[in-house]
Amino acid sequence: ETLEYEADAAEKSGYDHYMLKEIHEQPRALRQTISGRIDADDGTVDVDVDLPSEYVDSIEEIQIVACGTSNYAGRYAAELLESVVDVRTTVEVASEYEFDGGRDPWRTLVVAVTQSGETADTLSAIRRAKRAGARTLAVTNTLGSTIVRETDDSVFIRAGPEIGVAATKTFASQVATLTLLAVRIGRARGSLSYARARELLESVRRLPNAVQGVLDREDRIREVAREYADSDAFFFVGRRFGHPVALEGALKLKEISYDHAEGFPAGELKHGPLALVTDETPVLALLTDGSRPDETLNNVKEVQARGAPVIGATTADGDGEVAADPTHLDVDLPVPAAGVLEPLVANVYWQLFAYHVADEKGRPIDRPRNLAKSVTVE
Ligand code: AGP
Repeated sequence: ETLEYEADAAEKSGYDHYMLKEIHEQPRALRQTISGRIDADDGTVDVDVDLPSEYVDSIEEIQIVACGTSNYAGRYAAELLESVVDVRTTVEVASEYEFDGGRDPWRTLVVAVTQSGETADTLSAIRRAKRAGARTLAVTNTLGSTIVRETDDSVFIRAGPEIGVAATKTFASQVATLTLLAVRIGRARGSLSYARARELLESVRRLPNAVQGVLDREDRIREVAREYADSDAFFFVGRRFGHPVALEGALKLKEISYDHAEGFPAGELKHGPLALVTDETPVLALLTDGSRPDETLNNVKEVQARGAPVIGATTADGDGEVAADPTHLDVDLPVPAAGVLEPLVANVYWQLFAYHVADEKGRPIDRPRNLAKSVTVE
């Protein structure tokens, strides 16, 4: 038994849990994701995917199907594809997906985002799309997985094996890969300008160091997690690219700490959830670039008026209202600049927060109750 224990500790390279190890592996995982795929001078990417330009031109709609954390990565990408790349994109929870490809299914590209490549709900959504005649693409971490065999083409996120049930580094690598794919599609269609493409690729290129900047502040977030661990509930808010990250932050916390946590678009608070807000419910707010910080600040003021402590992630050295006066936040967590990918960088604070709240409570972090790493039943 001693031997087994030592082997296990060695696998975790000195970290107490796989989850913490994998959170810290993100800069490396992201470097692998990006490696050799960006041509910054050209503003182009090569993700080694067989999408002929006539086909890319003919796409009328992209439908993303995925579950859990992969679904939130899909939402991040959908926001990018719609607002930056200008391709009509929908994203659906795979178990709710009914293929609706419009008049010409072939002109609908259905993208399955799945770390494991074995999620039953996602596989059955893809099978439905294929039966209707749509072209399918997998974005996955797992070579040789079922999704790779069943889709027309695949793009690998190259995050390396993830053991913890809570997805961490694979979320970051999924969003980075999907951003590259969005640039690839936008450039091929001519809907993404050279300047905008270069700007996006620069954000992707900054990710590994920006994430490292957050990891370097782990002591602070551990302190914050301990301070608020016994709260009644936790609310995560953000707008635009901050919205999927709010959902992801809440999922991570509930999954491993068993606390009540919910994520909302910040503007929705006043339409109901505000009734739950008290001085015992911290609000974790994304106030970075890409998350409409100035508008979100108005919502932050509403929760502060109800006594809620606010833990805010703000752009380091930013120049908006938030940056000018961070003192009104109970906790201000600086996020290194990364443009529209800043909420993704800020997410690393939410991962560490979830981890340290769960650790404080002695939860079995790598094997949370009732959950499996890969869900192979519908
Ligand atoms: C994430 O922390 C969860 N364990 C879960 O939501 C997961 O993302 C979901 O089951 C999808 O898995 P997949 O990416 O392997 O398809």
